[in-house]
Amino acid sequence: MAKNRLISPFVKWAGGKRQLLDAIVALCPPDMRYHTYVEPFIGGGALFFHLQPDNAIINDLNSELINVYNMVKDNLTELVADLKKHKNESKYFYELRSLDRSADFASMDKVKRASRVLYLNKTCFNGLYRVNNAGEFNSPFGNYQNPNIVNEPVLKAVSLYLNAKNVRILSTDYENILRDLDENAFVYIDPPYHPLSETANFTGYVQGGWSAADQIRLREACDDLTRRNIKFLLSNSASDFIRRQYENYSITTVKANRSVNADGEKRGEVDEVLIRNYE
Ligand SMILES: C[S@@+](CC[C@H](N)C(=O)[O-])C[C@H]1O[C@@H](n2cnc3c(N)ncnc32)[C@H](O)[C@@H]1O
Repeated sequence: MAKNRLISPFVKWAGGKRQLLDAIVALCPPDMRYHTYVEPFIGGGALFFHLQPDNAIINDLNSELINVYNMVKDNLTELVADLKKHKNESKYFYELRSLDRSADFASMDKVKRASRVLYLNKTCFNGLYRVNNAGEFNSPFGNYQNPNIVNEPVLKAVSLYLNAKNVRILSTDYENILRDLDENAFVYIDPPYHPLSETANFTGYVQGGWSAADQIRLREACDDLTRRNIKFLLSNSASDFIRRQYENYSITTVKANRSVNADGEKRGEVDEVLIRNYE
C-alpha cells in the first residue's frame, strides 16, 4: 500500500535519521510485514513514520516526548487549539520554558505539557530538545522568523495513523521493552551515540546522559536478543569503542551530515555504523 508522506516526524530531535533512511531501509529484513516493529529509542521516529508498520511498539525514556505522542493520538483537537495560542516571543518562550522548574509541573494538564514541548521544539535555537543535569529544558530562544508551531496536516495524519494501526506507546527503560519480545519482533535501536571525541558528545536527551557503561549494557541486551533469535538493527557512531563492542556482528559504515560542535552551529560529514545480527 502507498505510504502517506504526511505521516512524518512532528518534532526535530538530535540524531534524527531522516538523511540515513535509504541506507537503513536497505538493511532492514526483507519480510518486514510479518514482524512487529519495535523502536525502544523512538526520538523523532523518522524510520517508524517512514515504514508506517501495522503492528508496532514505540518507546522513549523521555516521558515529556512520549506524552506528545499520546496527546497527538488521543487529544488532537485540544492540542491543536492550544498550539494556536502560543507566541513566538522571547519573554513568552522563557516563561513557558521555566515551567519544568516548578514543583507542580508534573500535575500540569497533559495537553498543555505536550503543546509546550512542541512549541519549544519549534521556537528554540536549532530546534534541539536538550535538558540539563536537573532534567530541565535548557535550549535558548531561537528568534526565528516564521516557525511552524502548528503543523496541522502532519499532526492530523500522524494521529489518524496511530489510531488506525496497532501501535503501543510506552515510556520506560529500553530493557523493559526488549525483555518481553518474541521471534516475530524486528527491533530498530537508535540509542544516544557514543561520542567520537570528548567534546562532541550530545547527551542531553534525558536526565543523566549516556556513558560507556550504558553502551556496554545495551550491547549485552543485543547479545541477548541474538540468543533469543530476535533480529535487530542498531545505529551508532563509528567510534573504535563501538566497533569493538559489536565485532561479532555485521557492520556497515555510512556517512551522515551532523553538527560537529556543542552548539550545533558547525556541520560536517561523519561516519556512523549500522550493525545487525542477520544476513
Ligand atoms: C538518538 S535518539 C533517537 C533518534 C531518533 N531515532 C530519530 O530519528 O529522531 C535517542 C533517544 O533515546 C532516549 N533514551 C535515552 N536513554 C534511554 C533509555 N535508557 N531507554 C529508552 N530510551 C532512552 C532519548 O530520550 C532519545 O530520545
